[in-house]
Amino acid sequence: MTSAEPLPILCYPDPRLHTVARPVAAVDARIRDLADRMFATMYEANGIGLAATQVDVHERLIVIDVSEERDQPQVLINPQIEWASEETRKGEEGCLSVPGIYDGVERSVAIRVRALDANGAERVIEAEGMLAVCIQHEMDHLMGKVFVEYLSLLKRNRIKSKLLKAQREAERG
Ligand code: NI
Repeated sequence: MTSAEPLPILCYPDPRLHTVARPVAAVDARIRDLADRMFATMYEANGIGLAATQVDVHERLIVIDVSEERDQPQVLINPQIEWASEETRKGEEGCLSVPGIYDGVERSVAIRVRALDANGAERVIEAEGMLAVCIQHEMDHLMGKVFVEYLSLLKRNRIKSKLLKAQREAERG
């Protein structure tokens, strides 16, 4: 897959997860290295998507692989949603920054996204199903939004205390 070094993942409610990412200015070696390390991070954590925000880099870059064989990596740089279906569906989501928490989020069932790939070439991606959900989830991260913010305040506060407690326990070792 990749021999790049994984990066630490920010954990909710880390305030850095609410940073709005700026556009990638140039798709160069630095960005390709970042994408490689993000893939290493995502595969190691068994995730299907990761936004640069989650590794504390606030530039518009996401990596995705929704394939079962974990052999279809996709890099989306400066992604823009061109179209989103009015039809929505509620599906269960999780997030590498919110470990152990899964809950329902309403998303468009199909989208069309324009983005640059790792070579700086423009691509238009028509996505539905899990890929569409994953792209919308990761693009939210770039806007500083974590999926638990779609849940009720009560649920979100419960998740916050649970994760803060787990983080404190982990620090104590
Ligand atoms: Ni996430």
